[in-house]
Amino acid sequence: MRLRWAGAVLLAAAAYYVYLPLPSGVCEPWKLMLLDALFRSFVKATDVAHALGVCHRLHLLNRVVSLVEDVEPRPCPHVDVTDTVLNGVPARVFHPKGGQRLKRGVIYFHGGGWAFCSGRMRSYDLLCRKMAKDLDSVIMSVDYRLAPDAVFPDQYHDALAASRAFLSSEVLELYGIDPQRLCLSGDSSGGNLAAAVAQELGSDDALTVKFKVQALIYPVLQALDFHTPSYQQNQAVPILYRPLMASFLLEYLGADTSLVPVLLANNHSSLDQPAISASTRSKLDWTALLPAERRKRFRPLVKERGSSEVLVQVPQLMDVRAMPLLAEQAVLGRTPKAYVMTCEFDVLRDDGLMYARRLRDAGVEVTSDHYEDGFHGCMMFSYLPMSSDVGRRSMSSYIRWLDQNL
Ligand SMILES: *[C@@H]1O[C@H](CO)[C@@H](O)[C@H](O)[C@H]1NC(C)=O
Repeated sequence: MRLRWAGAVLLAAAAYYVYLPLPSGVCEPWKLMLLDALFRSFVKATDVAHALGVCHRLHLLNRVVSLVEDVEPRPCPHVDVTDTVLNGVPARVFHPKGGQRLKRGVIYFHGGGWAFCSGRMRSYDLLCRKMAKDLDSVIMSVDYRLAPDAVFPDQYHDALAASRAFLSSEVLELYGIDPQRLCLSGDSSGGNLAAAVAQELGSDDALTVKFKVQALIYPVLQALDFHTPSYQQNQAVPILYRPLMASFLLEYLGADTSLVPVLLANNHSSLDQPAISASTRSKLDWTALLPAERRKRFRPLVKERGSSEVLVQVPQLMDVRAMPLLAEQAVLGRTPKAYVMTCEFDVLRDDGLMYARRLRDAGVEVTSDHYEDGFHGCMMFSYLPMSSDVGRRSMSSYIRWLDQNL
């Protein structure tokens, strides 16, 4: 009897730990709650280690993730997998066996807040194998350097250097890739890198080989407004909470994470900031760039006066190489045909929707693929026990778009 009571209490405690009130409409909410509980436990454990001075939180988290997740470059019946180096940057190459002599090529940047994960992780490894096989394409998954050891512009420079190597005739010939059918892609922070590289290379007149398409999966594109409707609507939705996104951005920019509350208050983009021109503001003015069904009842938060020292301390917050949404229309207009995936229950939804709109206004052909029941990261959690229906749907739609457009 006592045992049964103890069991019931434990179960209730576990349910309390896992349970989160989620907005109705999220795909398979219990799976998302479980995923969140797992994440929270990891983060708590590493917070303790960090506080005790054992090691940096990010180092420890990465060790745990790579212990659990990293896989060897094993070939499978349909795909050869090898590790290589592109212009000094490590990358994993997925090469389909047989098929066409000249293949399509995709360079892929993984997500993880510029601080976590790698192309060697099981989920990315599996995604790239599937893409290689389903698309009969060569996929190169890039291991750019990570925070806190490397900060902006290191990640960006690695992504750019690897992409330039990918476009070189040496690499294209070596792997049998068709120079007319090349794609840049990435998710989350990797989508940020893909978008930034697409802008730089799109405007490079010296290049003879160009990317044909860019495919951005719930990308991070700006850090000036933490009160877009999606930031407001989804601030309590796992797993990418608002403060977590702000701290990822600050870590990426090599800035102090004690600035998180300033960013969350939109104090860094108040009207008294001389560094932010009216033209810059218009590039992320969601009251004009988002359709009414996404703006909903939300109001913009624009401070008259804020913390003017922040943009002086952290000018990278305005650097277009880190914040692709701030690009000029002419630059956007020279980027390749685009696919932009967004999820309703994601703080980054409006970054993606505004970018899709600005690309379209600049004359780029855009497919905006929105998931009404999607949450941040859903496509990458398609192989864990938490694999969700929206994860599977979004992945097949992404691969189908590549098949039809690359
Ligand atoms: C934002 O700026 C206002 C006005 O300068 C200040 O009173 C407030 O404390 C700031 N908030 C944060 C979180 O820095």
